[in-house]
Amino acid sequence: MQEILNKFVELRAEARMGGGQQRIDAQHARGKLTAREAIEVLLDDGSFEELDTFVQHRCIDFGMDKQHIAGDGVVAGYGTINRRRIFVFAQDFTVFGGSLSEANATKICKIMDMAMKVGAPVIGLNDSGGARIQEGVASLGGYADIFQRNVMASGVIPQISAILGPCAGGAVYSPALTDFIMMVEDNSYMFVTGPEVVKTVTHEDVTVEELGGAKTHFTKSGVSHFAFPNGMVLLRQLRRLFSFLPSNNREKAPVVNTGDPADRHEKSLDYLIPDDPNQSYDMSELIKKVVDNYDFMEVQGGFARNIITGFGRLKGETVGIVANQPMVLAGCLDINSSIKAARFVQFCDCFNIPILTFVDVPGFLPGKQQELGGIIKHGAKLLYAYAQCTVPKITVITRKAYGGAYDVMASKHLRGDLNLAWPNAEIAVMGAKGAAEIIFRNEIRSADDPEAKLKEKTDEYSDRFANPFIAAQRGYIDDVIRPSRTRWRVIRGLEMLANKKVENPWKKHGNIPL
Ligand code: HXC
Repeated sequence: MQEILNKFVELRAEARMGGGQQRIDAQHARGKLTAREAIEVLLDDGSFEELDTFVQHRCIDFGMDKQHIAGDGVVAGYGTINRRRIFVFAQDFTVFGGSLSEANATKICKIMDMAMKVGAPVIGLNDSGGARIQEGVASLGGYADIFQRNVMASGVIPQISAILGPCAGGAVYSPALTDFIMMVEDNSYMFVTGPEVVKTVTHEDVTVEELGGAKTHFTKSGVSHFAFPNGMVLLRQLRRLFSFLPSNNREKAPVVNTGDPADRHEKSLDYLIPDDPNQSYDMSELIKKVVDNYDFMEVQGGFARNIITGFGRLKGETVGIVANQPMVLAGCLDINSSIKAARFVQFCDCFNIPILTFVDVPGFLPGKQQELGGIIKHGAKLLYAYAQCTVPKITVITRKAYGGAYDVMASKHLRGDLNLAWPNAEIAVMGAKGAAEIIFRNEIRSADDPEAKLKEKTDEYSDRFANPFIAAQRGYIDDVIRPSRTRWRVIRGLEMLANKKVENPWKKHGNIPL
């Protein structure tokens, strides 16, 4: 028996070495963690249980019959983060570049199936050259098996993807189907085809960084929700993100004792809004002052910065926050911000996370680029997402709520549960000056002093509509509140809505304007 045990220990130690010391050293030299090291950083100490350590590929082509490495390029299993169950797989770049074989796909599928059975999230640590080229269609099939599971798990359990190295081909599509993507700056890449293929096909010269670096995906394409300076920081932030999320769609996110008094006044909010309606202010300051302990985890903070999305807590409970940012494009809604916020709203709705919306929006961004880019269908995504969602929705209009954007931003008419406004709010079809220019056009043109007439008519429109009380008279606004009391009023609203139950009519699924 001792001999068998010794042999077993030897085999396991060998499996844990992945592609060998030389390749591990190369991985470290690039500033990267190995798959096992990354799992260790991610999970609670000693909680990881590995499965399928001894799985091997079955490929016999291109000399592969002579190259077998136990585990076959992916480490998979389960463990805990803050004592909550999660399933994890980490691609091992030291083994055939972390490429996906038929055999290692079955390992990933196995933990995904278990995660679905027990209602726990799946976290993928990706570092892979894509489909194992030597295996051909067998590895393509492996990818599709994972994609199918990603889709079935969508909206049932949270799925989070960390990109810890170069990810090409199929290695980017599974992350794209998950809820959140996190990347490492200067050390992780995502592209369907790399720079060499791009050069051959389109004759464009492009660097890996330009094509698929963290900066590109965090700020330009919007593919990545987060970018961090290194793998260690990313994995710690992944733990933080997970702390805001429930384990599945039947549970609520864990409640944390934050110690922040629910009735904390933020006096400074009474003076946040500048007197000049054309002057901006920082919406993220407002958000931080409202949530528990100023702790706000922004999602997609580098992309479409005219809208802010992210997680915070109120009296210890997770809320998803969507807010127009007047500092960028005056807070207008455009194509990218609509898509960004729509996806975030959908995520919150899938996972029972109440949505708090702060509104300061002068309307949809006008222009040829927006219209030809399809702002109609993209703006409709946000409208659709808000309209179909059934979690508690609280809306606070802090300043402008103009035109169609008023409707879209979780208005009463889209089943907003509690719609509040600050006393300075302006709820109207458009800004007072623009409105006066249209409805009093003839009067202004024929006036002796058109400038003075325009001002007079602008003031008239402004007095009539640039306030929250017309909407409040109709019940479109449930109450007008003091800015400094926002936190308290929202918390009371969330408590009132704790048992909210609304069901949409039965359907196979809706048809969101994609
Ligand atoms: C088999 C692979 C591999 C792959 C890398 N390797 N990718 N082996 N299949 N897909 C191996 C390399 O041969 C090498 O082995 C080791 O992994 C490390 O790779 P390097 O190239 O030395 O590393 P690096 O310079 O860092 O470049 C990483 C890389 C590059 C950018 C990922 O390897 C690369 O471009 N690989 C191919 C990417 C690709 O085209 N994949 C197929 C996509 S098609 P040795 O033994 O030398 O150390 C696809 C279809 C699915 O995925 C589509 C579904 C929708």
